[in-house]
Amino acid sequence: MTPRNMIFVAAASVAAMIGATQVSFAADAAKGKTIFEHKCHVCHRIGPGATNFVGPDLNGLDGRAIASEPGYSYSDADQAKKKTGFVWNAKTFDTYITNPQKDIPGTKMVFPGIPQASQRADLWAYLSSFKADGSKK
Ligand code: HEC
Repeated sequence: MTPRNMIFVAAASVAAMIGATQVSFAADAAKGKTIFEHKCHVCHRIGPGATNFVGPDLNGLDGRAIASEPGYSYSDADQAKKKTGFVWNAKTFDTYITNPQKDIPGTKMVFPGIPQASQRADLWAYLSSFKADGSKK
C-alpha cells in the first residue's frame, strides 16, 4: 500500500466512525423536558410538589408498577394491566407512548402517541431522572 492509499484508508475509517455516531442518538433529558412541557404537562405533573392532576403524578416512574399512584382513580384497563405485573421502564414506556390506546386498549389517557423514537428516548431520559419524592436522582 502506498502512503497516499494508507491516508485514504485512515480517513475513510474515521468517516465511518463519525457516521456511526450520527446514526445512533444520545437521549437528551433537556430535550425531553421541552417535549414534556409541550405534550404532557397539560395533564401531568412531575418534580418537587407534583400531585395527581388530569393524569397521575409521574415522579419515580422508573421501576414503578402501573396504576399504583396513591389517590389516583385509574381506568379498569390500567388496573387490569397492573395484575399482569406491568412495571414502567425504558422498554414498556417506549411501547406505551408510541401509541397508548394500542398498547393498553381502554386506557383513559387521551393522547395520540409519539412516532419519533428519538423523542420517546429523550422523554424517558427526562421522566426517569426524578425520584419518587420529586427530587432529581
Ligand atoms: C389529555 C390528558 C393527557 C395527556 C396529554 C397525557 N396523559 Fe398520560 N395519562 C393521562 C390519564 C388520564 C392517565 C390515566 C390512565 C388510566 O387510568 O387509564 C395517564 C396515564 C399515564 C401514565 C401511566 C402512569 C401510571 O401511574 O401508571 C404514564 C406513564 C403517562 N400517562 C405518561 C404520559 C406522558 C409521558 C405524556 C406526554 C407525552 C402524557 N402522559 C400525556 C392523561 C394524559
